[in-house]
Amino acid sequence: MPSGSNAWWRDAVIYQVYPRSFADSDGDGLGDIPGVLNRIDYLQNLGVDAIWISPFYPSPLRDGGYDVADYRSVDTRLGTVSDVEQLINAAHARNMKVFMDIVPNHTSSEHAWFQEVLRSEPGSPAWNRYVIKEGKGEDHELPPTNWESVFHGPAWSPLVLANGERTKYWYLHIFDSSQPDLNWENPEVRAEFLDILRFWFDLGIDGFRIDVAHGLIKDQTFPDIDYSMVKERELLGEPILSPYWNQDGVHEIYRDWRTLADTYDPPRVFCGETWAPTPERLALYQRPDELHTSFNFDYLRAGFDADRLKQSIDATLLNHKLVGAPPTWVLSNHDIVRHATRLAPGQSDHPTVPPTPENADRGLARARAATLFTLGLPGSTYLYQGEELGLPEVLDLPGDVRQDPVWFRSNGTDIGRDGCRVPIPWSGDIPSYGFGPGEQSWLPQPSEWAHLSVQAQDSDDTTLNFYRSALARRRSEPATGDGELQWRTSELTQTEGVLAYTRPHPQLPMTCVLNTSDHNISLPNEFGTEILQASGPGVAIVGSEDGEHTVIAPDTAIWLRG
Ligand code: GLC
Repeated sequence: MPSGSNAWWRDAVIYQVYPRSFADSDGDGLGDIPGVLNRIDYLQNLGVDAIWISPFYPSPLRDGGYDVADYRSVDTRLGTVSDVEQLINAAHARNMKVFMDIVPNHTSSEHAWFQEVLRSEPGSPAWNRYVIKEGKGEDHELPPTNWESVFHGPAWSPLVLANGERTKYWYLHIFDSSQPDLNWENPEVRAEFLDILRFWFDLGIDGFRIDVAHGLIKDQTFPDIDYSMVKERELLGEPILSPYWNQDGVHEIYRDWRTLADTYDPPRVFCGETWAPTPERLALYQRPDELHTSFNFDYLRAGFDADRLKQSIDATLLNHKLVGAPPTWVLSNHDIVRHATRLAPGQSDHPTVPPTPENADRGLARARAATLFTLGLPGSTYLYQGEELGLPEVLDLPGDVRQDPVWFRSNGTDIGRDGCRVPIPWSGDIPSYGFGPGEQSWLPQPSEWAHLSVQAQDSDDTTLNFYRSALARRRSEPATGDGELQWRTSELTQTEGVLAYTRPHPQLPMTCVLNTSDHNISLPNEFGTEILQASGPGVAIVGSEDGEHTVIAPDTAIWLRG
């Protein structure tokens, strides 16, 4: 195991399962919990330490399950609480941990609490569980603030009661109108979520990924936002403090959650989905009495750009050190364009057109290089299902199969996130490629995915085997995981577009070099020539007058002894 403190989460590799798209055990086209259980050995052989499963609660699926109708149950299409228990036991038997998602910022509008709002009088206790305010304007016909939803359009909708009466009130939904925001000023909401956490902790869940962890507390003065200023500052790369993100009061909630998690043996663990404006603000969530870890999206946004990557790593390490917490790293998830596509030359963070075949190949090479580089960093790493197969983003899904609320709320101008949620190809030549027993899958899979399936990549020099070997290497190398990092870039003759760091160890130090430039680079002898792992074929040992040198091609990373 990697060195450092012995808490498993400090240096774990955690694999994200998006359950509707992972494996379908019953042929309804929707992945499910028994599907994950059937594939648990695949995950163990891949070499991950834990899995995080995105929401599987009962849900009208207006936002892929992030619209929860009942927090103490499982969607019947996905399984039962007992299936989840079996999965936890099977994972534990293989020395793997299981995280699940908790969605505390909002419920589904089908949740019993919101349904109660629609059937009760204005001002009743049920109303106080959500963020509900009088509209502006003479007839209250205007929303209380000008806040915009993350999914496009206004963040408030008029509150229309179950009997059809339109009230003068509006409810807040930072996301879809089917996701009303909870009122975390209300102690009843706080108590309810502590109880929900207890329910799953008691079942044996090792921890939670907290959805929109930075959003629970709203500025109670409800100020309008100056969006032209926000755009300007975004362009300048300046941090913006929003009236509903990263409010100071949110930290108090996590202190309570941590106290509860620490009452368990072994203590349960949290990872926050915290989009913070700066690495400094992000690290606040990892103070010793709050969340153990948080996603570090600053790194994910750094692209395949050596300077930006270095800047992000330095700021992350510095700020996490100040609070004594390990950082986390992630390159893909269910909300973001897959990194094999995003990192292809000429692509932006929001591509709409697939790269040319040549650029797609380079995108995959870069993705593998970025992954190897990331796996060597101090802390823990999250992987997203399918990245180990080198899956690209599916950009050409027809409009009528798309399901992301982003697509609907933008009137089709924003294609949304379905392209990274296409079900996994496991085997065979035609869809559903073993995703389920039949042909069905809730999003169609591309007809050319046969060569990307697990079965097709099970042997030879494939992306899947690269991941297996890199993860095995990470496990066996004592310098990886938690600990220190020393930059070595300045010892290279060519430094533009190149990063090199060493993970120190008294006997077995390890060095990682990433080449994002367009040229081959040659490493000095001091870097050693024992290659532990390469991200691709572009690595050669070349003899010269002063001994052997390691030469690394563009879009490639390696780990070396030394
Ligand atoms: C998080 C989830 C995303 C979801 C949103 C609203 O960002 O990752 O999938 O749509 O929260 O719950």
